[in-house]
Amino acid sequence: MVAQLLGLAFLFLPTSLVTSTTHAVEINPNWEVVYRDTRVYGVVGKAVILECGPTIPDMYIWSFTKPGTEAIKAVVYNLGKGTRIQKLAETLGQLTVISNSASVSIEKLPLAAHGLFTCQAFYDIDKDPKVYYYYVHLTVRVPVTKPYLLMSDASPVEGSTMWMRCNLDNGTGPIQYVWKHETRNGTISVVAQGTSSIINVTDVNRNHTGWYRCVASNAVNSESSNRLWLDTIFGPDIPQIDVTPFSITERGYSALERETVSLLCQAQSNPASQYVWFYNNSQVYTGPQFTITKILRMHTGDYACLAQNTYLNTRSKKTISLTVYYPPDGSPSCSVEPALNHTSLKLLCSWTGGFPSPSLHWTGDLKTLGHTEADTGTQTNQLTNTTVLLSTEGMASNDSSFSCMGSHLALTQSRVCSTRTYIPPAEPVCLAYVTNNKQYLMLSCSWDGGSPNALVWWEGPGDQGKVGKESSNVLVLRYGTARGGKPYTCHAKHPLLIQTKTCRLTLEAPVLLTQRRVVSVYEGSDVQLTCNLRSNYLPTNQITWFNNRGLDVKGTSKYTLLRTSAWANLTVRDTHEAQDSGEYRCTTSNAVGGTEVNVTLLVKRHPMPPNATLVKVMYNSRKRNEVELEWQVESEEERGWTGFILEHIWVPERPGRRGRNDTKEDTDDRIGPPVWYPSIIQDPEVRSHTVGRLTPTVTYQFRITPVNHRTLGHPSAPKTPAEPRYNVYPAVIGAAIGGMLFAAIVTALLLLFIIRNRNNNPRLHDMLFGSQHSQSRENINLPEDEVVGGSEGGIEEIGGLASPGPTLALPRASSPLTTSPLSATPTTSQAPPPGDDNEPVSVTITVKATGS
Ligand SMILES: *[C@@H]1O[C@H](CO)[C@@H](O)[C@H](O)[C@H]1NC(C)=O
Ligand SMILES: *[C@@H]1O[C@H](CO)[C@@H](O)[C@H](O)[C@H]1NC(C)=O
Ligand SMILES: *[C@@H]1O[C@H](CO)[C@@H](O)[C@H](O)[C@H]1NC(C)=O
Ligand SMILES: *[C@@H]1O[C@H](CO)[C@@H](O)[C@H](O)[C@H]1NC(C)=O
Ligand SMILES: *[C@@H]1O[C@H](CO)[C@@H](O)[C@H](O)[C@H]1NC(C)=O
Ligand SMILES: *[C@@H]1O[C@H](CO)[C@@H](O)[C@H](O)[C@H]1NC(C)=O
Ligand SMILES: *[C@@H]1O[C@H](CO)[C@@H](O)[C@H](O)[C@H]1NC(C)=O
Ligand SMILES: *[C@@H]1O[C@H](CO)[C@@H](O)[C@H](O)[C@H]1NC(C)=O
Repeated sequence: MVAQLLGLAFLFLPTSLVTSTTHAVEINPNWEVVYRDTRVYGVVGKAVILECGPTIPDMYIWSFTKPGTEAIKAVVYNLGKGTRIQKLAETLGQLTVISNSASVSIEKLPLAAHGLFTCQAFYDIDKDPKVYYYYVHLTVRVPVTKPYLLMSDASPVEGSTMWMRCNLDNGTGPIQYVWKHETRNGTISVVAQGTSSIINVTDVNRNHTGWYRCVASNAVNSESSNRLWLDTIFGPDIPQIDVTPFSITERGYSALERETVSLLCQAQSNPASQYVWFYNNSQVYTGPQFTITKILRMHTGDYACLAQNTYLNTRSKKTISLTVYYPPDGSPSCSVEPALNHTSLKLLCSWTGGFPSPSLHWTGDLKTLGHTEADTGTQTNQLTNTTVLLSTEGMASNDSSFSCMGSHLALTQSRVCSTRTYIPPAEPVCLAYVTNNKQYLMLSCSWDGGSPNALVWWEGPGDQGKVGKESSNVLVLRYGTARGGKPYTCHAKHPLLIQTKTCRLTLEAPVLLTQRRVVSVYEGSDVQLTCNLRSNYLPTNQITWFNNRGLDVKGTSKYTLLRTSAWANLTVRDTHEAQDSGEYRCTTSNAVGGTEVNVTLLVKRHPMPPNATLVKVMYNSRKRNEVELEWQVESEEERGWTGFILEHIWVPERPGRRGRNDTKEDTDDRIGPPVWYPSIIQDPEVRSHTVGRLTPTVTYQFRITPVNHRTLGHPSAPKTPAEPRYNVYPAVIGAAIGGMLFAAIVTALLLLFIIRNRNNNPRLHDMLFGSQHSQSRENINLPEDEVVGGSEGGIEEIGGLASPGPTLALPRASSPLTTSPLSATPTTSQAPPPGDDNEPVSVTITVKATGS
């Protein structure tokens, strides 16, 4: 249409000079004037030709009538005498008559030429004149000038109303207006067209934004205005939020912990939106793109984007919810539990803490176990826990391993935990014990170490303990209420075993045993009395020993008590015939009864040794300071002795001979009764001895007493030494007196020392002066040993003592018959063979006087 209009407009220009209807000249028989009307359209400033009939008339007159007036005024004429142009023609443009015609041409047509031109034409004047009036209606058109666009509001707000006007200075109507819109991207469209120079836009919207121009067209031409920008103000719309990386769930958006999450907000708006971000209603960021690097679980929440149009002061908001997914900590944890009364296994896998829940999946020996439980299908679950129930039917292997694999969105690798199931390595153990205050008897049953724990319960006379417990079960019975004889059975069930295991306790009163009911022993030795429980399965009180006087035995120097829960051994030390013989009793009891056992201890003296007689008692020199002795023993073959005591005594008949060497130290000897000075001979084989360091001036008597351990024999008849066969040189005797006196004093001092220190050195005292006490040990004799006891004895140790000051060395005799391993006493020296005169006799009293 536009093109048509434009096209028409262009067509006008070259062809608008003459537009006339072609009429054939007709002869009016009535002499009437013929009128012809034509319309001619001209454009101002352009040329136009007005025709006056198709042929040249003989005469013509062009006249002009201004529109709105009646007057008809001549413009040019030619009455046969040439054309005559009137002054009026000057106002009608450059008007000329085209030669050889009556047509006029007007160059540069003015607007004033608009009107009615009339050409009165006269033909055939000479013969039959004809008159024509040609009315030429000249329309002078004005081309449209370049229009210009006016907008009531170049920045209208969306929804408002505005108008646009296409203004035009000049232009002959009718004028067509075409409204063109060019979008931002260059698409041009016609939005309206019509005759109105103004268009109203009601409800302006953003699509109206763009370049506008109007094109005004009339019959002459078409002109387009400059373009004008219409800027619709609008928005902001509801924002659109784009989350990168994009992950949407039914809860909203989600992100993995430590990811970088970008939130982009876009809201259509003119002018462009200002963006503000809110997290849980507090402002966190300004700008369209909110980026959270390394997002954390605590960033979960609502994110709102607020878009603002600062020009309009309008805003809009959109909220999304963003959930940050995070894995559970660590690894899943696996365990195995008994199920269905310890006939099945339950595998538990738990991995809590993550969001969303991880998926857990059991693997391992499940299939080999032919596991067909109903919930197998749900082995993979979006759960923090997963449980698998395994029937142990047909579970052949003792040791099975299962793994639970946990995977989570936020983890690249899955995590695994494992658990095993196995039977306890040992058998169930039944134990009984008693509380300290003897109030309760506890029966304990335990079967530890399996996985899962076994179920343990008791069956017995009472109702207690029947409820199973894991791994161990303790039955508490009031002391004394337990029933003897009836078994208490402990059952233990493990899911991997179809059979239950058992152990059993039968409560019985204790039974005590001793190795020997009668123990006989030789005096002076230590003896051990034993007492032990026949069996050890029920807790029994401590075993108590009572001695021969019925007193509870405590550990003293007399008694050594060694005991465990199973036995108590009483050692009676240094046995004494009278004090330690008798009935000893060992007792104990437990929750179901008590018992005792008696042991008779017989402490025996050693038999009397045979009598001995001195057969030789003689000074070996005239110095009278050494006496040689020899003796005999009756019934030598019996051997019932262990040694001899050879004694000498001062005979007090000749007190005057003691003379000037009397000293205060001798006083004791004179006050008390005469004292026998012993020499101990520990070798039963010895039959001779030399006693030295005698005082030459003194008269002595000697006697010998055989000894069998502590049993002393009858002393022999005392004998005074005989004089040697040689004469005594007085000078020698005189010289010897001083030495003898010295020896006597030293001997007296030694005896004093021993007497005064009898408590410190009891053995020395006892040895010299006789005592029933001895530290000797005897082998424990069986009652059957009694018969031979007389000749068979342990080693009697008498020496081996060190005292401060003077040292007393007492060699001991060793009996070749000794066999007891108990008589492990140190040997100080070996006795020399008898009859060796050059050696000192084995038993001597030596005094080491130091520093005097
Ligand atoms: C409009 O027409 C008037 C009268 O004919 C003339 O004076 C004026 O110059 C024209 N304006 C334009 C822009 O052509
Ligand atoms: C445009 O609106 C005005 C009033 O707002 C009215 O007078 C005029 O006629 C309307 N023009 C058109 C083309 O609707
Ligand atoms: C703007 O134009 C688009 C596409 O041409 C259209 O979908 C939308 O509805 C228009 N908007 C308005 C407000 O007319
Ligand atoms: C934000 O809101 C969410 C959902 O209401 C809530 O879980 C989260 O704890 C909140 N965060 C803070 C920091 O308040
Ligand atoms: C569990 O097992 C024990 C022995 O196997 C049985 O005595 C007991 O009745 C069972 N209990 C249940 C609830 O099945
Ligand atoms: C079962 O397996 C465990 C672990 O390998 C082992 O300690 C136990 O002795 C086994 N028990 C039996 C009855 O084989
Ligand atoms: C105590 O006597 C028992 C025998 O009744 C014996 O087995 C045990 O070894 C003895 N203990 C000691 C320490 O001698
Ligand atoms: C031994 O001597 C004592 C007294 O000296 C005497 O009574 C006894 O009979 C003697 N024994 C023998 C077997 O001769």
